[in-house]
Amino acid sequence: MRALEVRISAETRSYPVYIGRGLLGSLGKLASRHGFPKRVMVITDEHVAPLYGEATAEALKAGGFSPELVSIPPGESSKSLATVSSLYDRLIARGFDRGCGICALGGGVVGDIAGFVAATYLRGIPWIQVPTTLLAQVDSSVGGKTGVNHPAGKNLIGAFYQPRLVLIDPDLLGSLPPRELHAGLAEVVKAALIGDAQLFSLLEAHWEGFVSGDPELLEEAILRACRVKAEVVSRDEREVGHRRILNFGHTLGHALEAATEYRHFLHGEAVAWGMLGAIWLSWKRGLLNDGERGRIEALLSRLPKPPIPEIPTERFREHLRRDKKIVAGTLHYVYLSRIGEAVLEEGISEEELLSALERISSLEAPS
Ligand SMILES: NC(=O)c1ccc[n+]([C@@H]2O[C@H](COP(=O)([O-])OP(=O)(O)OC[C@H]3O[C@@H](n4cnc5c(N)ncnc54)[C@H](O)[C@@H]3O)[C@@H](O)[C@H]2O)c1
Ligand SMILES: [Zn+2]
Repeated sequence: MRALEVRISAETRSYPVYIGRGLLGSLGKLASRHGFPKRVMVITDEHVAPLYGEATAEALKAGGFSPELVSIPPGESSKSLATVSSLYDRLIARGFDRGCGICALGGGVVGDIAGFVAATYLRGIPWIQVPTTLLAQVDSSVGGKTGVNHPAGKNLIGAFYQPRLVLIDPDLLGSLPPRELHAGLAEVVKAALIGDAQLFSLLEAHWEGFVSGDPELLEEAILRACRVKAEVVSRDEREVGHRRILNFGHTLGHALEAATEYRHFLHGEAVAWGMLGAIWLSWKRGLLNDGERGRIEALLSRLPKPPIPEIPTERFREHLRRDKKIVAGTLHYVYLSRIGEAVLEEGISEEELLSALERISSLEAPS
């Protein structure tokens, strides 16, 4: 087992991120070590419950906890205030008070919802994250962003609320559909590009192993990606500056997702295309050299993802404008200066972003 410390400097709070194969069995022991409340509501989804619900409950019981399991329907459509409300109902009906806690067992959807419930129920009760998708293990489980969608847009309602601990067991990824694994790999590539050149070399050297879900390789990549995220989040918990580098590839990625009504791409797939656009823009700006641009394009072109469909320019423009970060007035764009280092710069035009869309639309998607 390896442990990372995420320190939220502004409030001098910190919590550990434990990473290791087979670690789920130690959940109770670790939660107990951190003084987690004995009564725990495990919030999961209907895909994950039959896979890991029992093992999670057993591990908690072994640490002296009394777990109760509740499942929500899987998928992004569950990320709503209606689901949150039904979870409050359940907590109240079961008599959960301030001396109780929540454990999120699932992907980013479960983590975001359960974290928001933990942040708001009785003005906040402690929670633990046990992420079960690669995306959640390398991205959403670290950093304390919780929340749900509103009919008007994604993640419009939420809170920053840090868990007591995060437990990451890469063996749980064995059951993940390959498409979900590959979408999560895109966020691993992002972490490498913005903060860990060695991770990028590891991805290049063992790409086939990563794509096929080799657990040893994934463990190393998860540790490194979490380290990048922890470092960034520790410097800027509330995304007033530096944390924005985590949005690398996301301006174009979000616009691609939205312009295709969230039906065509998984988030990571859209971000993979978005990163291809971002490295092209970085190269055009003279920030990134030919050699590194070539290496990154080669790697990202091998990441399985659907091709970009025909998107009318006006529709894409509209979605770019709707992006929260653009509406705020000053659009900071995240460029890459070299593998392992991102830079935030002000002032990118819509035309430049549209030219990047044109560029990536002309690239071949892998079969
Ligand atoms: N809080 C943050 O900082 C942050 C960051 C990035 C993304 N997110 C959010 O994360 C969400 C996406 O998360 P996701 O990609 O994990 O999606 P998800 O939670 O919907 O999981 C994807 C699918 O995999 C299934 N699944 C989960 N674990 C499994 C396993 N081990 N084996 C088999 N199937 C499994 C789920 O039931 C679901 O059907 C989005 O809502 C996004 O907004 C949050
Ligand atoms: Zn992302």
